[in-house]
Amino acid sequence: MSPAAVDSRPNTAHEAPAPARHLVLRLLGLAWRYRKKCLAVVFLNGFVAILGLVGFQLTGLGIDVLRKAVDPAAPAVRWPLGYAPPESWSLVAELSTVAVMMALMAVLSLAIKYWAAIVSAQLSQQIVIQLRTEVYDKLQRLSFRYFDDHDSSSLINRVAGDVQAIRQFVDGVVIKCLVVVITLAVCIVYMLRLNVGLTIACLATTPLLWWGAIWFARVSREQYLQASKLGDEMVRVLSENVQGIQVVKGFAAEKGQIERFAEANRQIVEHKFGIFWSLSLYQPIMGILTQINMLVLIGYGSYLTIRGELPLGTGLFVFANLLHEFANQVGHVTNIANSIQSSLTASERVFEILDAPLEVDSPASPQQPVQVRGEYVLEQVSFEYVPGKPVLKEINLRIGAGQMVGITGETGAGKTTLLALLTRFHDPTSGRILLDGVDLKAWDLPHLRRQIGMVFQESFLFSNTVSNNIAFGKPTATLDEIEFAARQAAAEEFISAMPGQYQNVVGEYGTNLSGGQKQRISLARALILRPPVLILDDATAAVDSETEHAIQQTLDRLRGERTVILVSSRVSTLRHADQIFVLNAGLLAETGNHQQLMQMHGHYFQMAQLQAWEQTLTEPEDSLPEDREASAWSNGQGATFPQMKGIRNV
Ligand SMILES: Nc1ncnc2c1ncn2[C@@H]1O[C@H](COP(=O)(O)OP(=O)(O)OP(=O)(O)O)[C@@H](O)[C@H]1O
Ligand SMILES: [Mg+2]
Repeated sequence: MSPAAVDSRPNTAHEAPAPARHLVLRLLGLAWRYRKKCLAVVFLNGFVAILGLVGFQLTGLGIDVLRKAVDPAAPAVRWPLGYAPPESWSLVAELSTVAVMMALMAVLSLAIKYWAAIVSAQLSQQIVIQLRTEVYDKLQRLSFRYFDDHDSSSLINRVAGDVQAIRQFVDGVVIKCLVVVITLAVCIVYMLRLNVGLTIACLATTPLLWWGAIWFARVSREQYLQASKLGDEMVRVLSENVQGIQVVKGFAAEKGQIERFAEANRQIVEHKFGIFWSLSLYQPIMGILTQINMLVLIGYGSYLTIRGELPLGTGLFVFANLLHEFANQVGHVTNIANSIQSSLTASERVFEILDAPLEVDSPASPQQPVQVRGEYVLEQVSFEYVPGKPVLKEINLRIGAGQMVGITGETGAGKTTLLALLTRFHDPTSGRILLDGVDLKAWDLPHLRRQIGMVFQESFLFSNTVSNNIAFGKPTATLDEIEFAARQAAAEEFISAMPGQYQNVVGEYGTNLSGGQKQRISLARALILRPPVLILDDATAAVDSETEHAIQQTLDRLRGERTVILVSSRVSTLRHADQIFVLNAGLLAETGNHQQLMQMHGHYFQMAQLQAWEQTLTEPEDSLPEDREASAWSNGQGATFPQMKGIRNV
């Protein structure tokens, strides 16, 4: 499968792997932040390696003691540090001394290994937690455009999985490299002390081992990058299916979706096999090279021992063990190369988030107006999601402080986009937006957002209690405040009817609530903030006419106190507004209040006519009042712009 087929969404992240050197330097910088713990782990592991070598030496000593007892003509036993037991000691006493030393060494080694493991685990957790927090923090601050361009499953994978792989760079690469280097150095020094010629002969193949490790590192990098993308794709299929389970079942598409998931899984397995192939080929080749060293030792080493130039135990035996340890450590180089590749791939993906520019951010010296009135002025505002394709075109408008204004227009006209600019989720491509005479870009961003209560077009609730959902923006809110906000949002009645009332837990994404109920909780969540500006994006689309009427009364009460900007397609809602802005294909087509717009005989008039007409179709003949138009508007179930085109059901 081609990379393009793996991730068809625009994702600027992985077009070409970043230069490895740059990534390695940055990862080393990360390791440097944890240098104290890293050094402690290296030191402890190095100590364990040295104790291991001392263990070989003691075993060799035991062999030499035994050999001397069996064959008095054998070379004299070389006791360590020049210590030799008195002549009077029996063989058993000498061997027992060696055994006790070995046992002490083993206990010491065990204790240090345990200590090293604890410090290492602490280090790993510290890195993962800190890095994850940093990435998560950055994700919280990134602008919406970033999320538009990046697949959510890929982002989740980066926070959950890739951060672990980066941690591997510290403990699986940096620390391990240092431990390997120290152990190899100790081995080589030890071997050289025993016999220089034998050391050179046995290690002649080492350059080939290094070359092999570097080759493997090059080959596997691209493979790991591809494996990560396939992992993202699998998670995406999975999460889409879980979130869209209703659609899947409703369209009886389970079989197709199972196949899609199986295909994503199959591709991962196939790809991983590719990596295992390279690894499986590489490891035996490295194994053969180390075996050649052993053959050299058996030939040349035995010759030296027979000639009396190398003791059997503290010489040949120790040498064989050192060589074995040497091969062992070189074997780790494969794992290190492997870890380097996976952590480079992961770091590229994680650093991409950390480095992403904050398109929308507070200026260096932001303004924080204290008494916010809520007057918006838009001057020549245009906006493009995709360069060259304007969604809003040169919008000029003024929303007075304390006014209630309506925004309407066909689906896709740019209503939600306009609201996103008022809240500074995006910055205009050109033109400027002023709130209380101050350009939004000059505001302190969190301060600006605190002035605005927002009800989004798609109500998102957290899997938490109703009261915590309402108090989301004001965790300190009292129960009275929560209940008052719920009452204002016409949500009190249904909340009181629920089993746990305000303590009832809302399912994930609010799954156990109806669309209208979710909208009302979202409205209460905005109202509780008592913000100077309240923005509602089609916030009553899913409620019945009676509830809409109740919400309307709340909004009417806010008039004069707060600026209310509401997107709606219902004339019954819009007719209460002080001003209505009609958007058409990104242009501000009409402005005025209900009466003025009706006299214009434009888009708004057409919409009103259609809604009135549709109302006459749904009402029984004898209930029709004289003024059908007025009747239709007073009923929230009227038709909408989208219905005009048969697109959306309200
Ligand atoms: N994140 C995005 N990236 C690219 N284009 C987008 C994005 N969001 C919206 N658009 C496009 O911008 C245009 C305006 O979208 P917007 O959501 O503002 O419409 P709307 O008036 O709110 O429609 P509706 O009544 O259906 O909610 C549409 O053509 C839409 O396809
Ligand atoms: Mg919209």
